[in-house]
Amino acid sequence: MKQETKHIVWHDTAVQKQERQQRNQHKSCILWFTGLSGAGKSTLANALEHRLFERGLNSYVLDGDNVRHGLNKGLGFGEEDRKENIRRIGEVAKLFVDAGLIVCTAFISPFAEDRNRVRALVQEDEFVEIYVRCSLEACEDRDPKGLYKKARTGEISNFTGISSPYEEPLQPELVVDSDQHSIEACVNQMITFLRERNYLP
Ligand code: PPS
Repeated sequence: MKQETKHIVWHDTAVQKQERQQRNQHKSCILWFTGLSGAGKSTLANALEHRLFERGLNSYVLDGDNVRHGLNKGLGFGEEDRKENIRRIGEVAKLFVDAGLIVCTAFISPFAEDRNRVRALVQEDEFVEIYVRCSLEACEDRDPKGLYKKARTGEISNFTGISSPYEEPLQPELVVDSDQHSIEACVNQMITFLRERNYLP
């Protein structure tokens, strides 16, 4: 056992997750959005969360750009840093599930192994992988932050889809084709799915 963890003892909490879920009247879970930069992860996560919030559900969005301003400030886009980025987010998301929330996470999370590690942190039905599928061409056309342009000229290195890989999910719970359907249609698709699977009351 590592010296740093040797004298650390786990405490059970006085209020259990089940009690929180009972009071909230809905399950808590991680809705894990993954996809290329510019695919629409943040847009869809926020649009969905807004609908959940309007229905009185307890929810929260964790977003790549925002988290990298605080908790994960200083992490870059090399393989090791991306792995650590997703590891920390996974742990935070797990805490949110424990707190009774539906947490929508919007990270490229390009590596299947890292996504699966997060999946393994929670119960089987508490992790819903949502692949925001969008062709590289469409993402590059959109280029909302001008990053693809910079990646093409080499001003940005390790850019997902250009100079760094993106591993498509093989068996995501849900695929939304953001280059085929409107935001509203994608949100409706997600709501229907979540209702059918009893995530929503
Ligand atoms: S990752 O791969 O999951 O660790 O990335 P994430 O934390 O989601 O951060 C992605 C956002 O960072 C911006 N950005 C980059 N993305 C990919 N590759 C490189 N090299 C890069 N540099 C900066 C970009 O705005 C991403 O935001 P989204 O919303 O995905 O477009």
